Amino acid sequence: MKPFFVLGKTSCDDTALALLTVQGSNFTILSSAISSQNAIHKKWGGVVPNLARREHEKNLPIVLKKVLAIARFPHKLPPIDLIGVASHPGLEIALWSGINFAKKLSQEWNVPLLGVDHLEGHLLVSLLEKRGSSFRPLRSPGMFPAIALIVSGGHTALFLMEDIGRYKMIGETRDDAAGECFDKTARLLGLGYPGGPAIEAATAQKPAVSVALPRPMMHTKDYDFSFSGLKTAVLYDYQKRSLKEKKSKAYVSAMASEIQQAICDVLVSKTLRAAKEYKARTVLLGGGVAANKRLRAMLKDRLQKESPNVSFRSPSIPLCTDNGVMIAMAAFQNWEQGKRSKDIQASSHTTISD
Ligand code: KG4
Ligand code: ZN
Repeated sequence: MKPFFVLGKTSCDDTALALLTVQGSNFTILSSAISSQNAIHKKWGGVVPNLARREHEKNLPIVLKKVLAIARFPHKLPPIDLIGVASHPGLEIALWSGINFAKKLSQEWNVPLLGVDHLEGHLLVSLLEKRGSSFRPLRSPGMFPAIALIVSGGHTALFLMEDIGRYKMIGETRDDAAGECFDKTARLLGLGYPGGPAIEAATAQKPAVSVALPRPMMHTKDYDFSFSGLKTAVLYDYQKRSLKEKKSKAYVSAMASEIQQAICDVLVSKTLRAAKEYKARTVLLGGGVAANKRLRAMLKDRLQKESPNVSFRSPSIPLCTDNGVMIAMAAFQNWEQGKRSKDIQASSHTTISD
């Protein structure tokens, strides 16, 4: 098969594009670039939809120029066979800027366009494994069924994966996503945005102040999650401390450690139970929160101890948070499976679960 070039793009609060080439089933990332909006949304403690759209519209042509230049495609009509764009789930207003830009490119370059599910992007990128300068095939014998935990700013869900393209959501959050809980509690503690990395950086090995948070829904028999009560528990604890104490580094770092631990305890214990019940051969971890080192280490270690025959996969840290590579991969995978988009619309819902 000739090299297949895919341009993937994604949108929420980051403008990300990537160019991939596929030969057989080996992916090579020719270029990947992200223009982060963190500095803009930081002041507000979260993503402001209108600002996100304005920034995407401004940055998309700049990031495109960059990925084409890195991949050494300076010509007007680059040799691209497919364009992928994240069309759902997500912030509709932000998704539309990506979709409109992609539609325009697809017409100008006369290249087919495929709308893909953001969550499938997170799932597929967790299967990449480096092999020299490219990545190993996605599918290896005996790796399914897999249990996939996708944890991001907008989603927290467990999927049973029977094969690539066959996913069933077995549980999800009933309120806030885990990333949202990190973001909101970090804001309360004055740690900034995005909250996940800020909380992770503030944690301490041996906290000097004692704080205890609940582990919501950790022992329920289903695979659902709930993180809004955790956020409220942080608020109550914060309110009862003196001004001096709650502003102290010792308190903030003890609270950051406990928030991280509470979220990890719930995520890990439900994922392990699902892996056992569904006799999973592989556990996948993806989404922005998968960049959390404590979560990665805890899931890997407990899996090794409790289910040593189950393998564990997670993307490299830069590929956990939103990026163009995951969208390009999802587009290629769907294209290969014969999927075609008619009229791409933005939507806040995922469509990957059957
Ligand atoms: O997947 P993602 O980039 O965007 C969405 O699809 O939402 O995930 C972003 C989320 C944010 O809530 C951010 O705080 C969280 O991922 N995050 C982390 C870490 N890095 C990013 N959470 C915990 N620890 C991290 N190191
Ligand atoms: Zn995401």
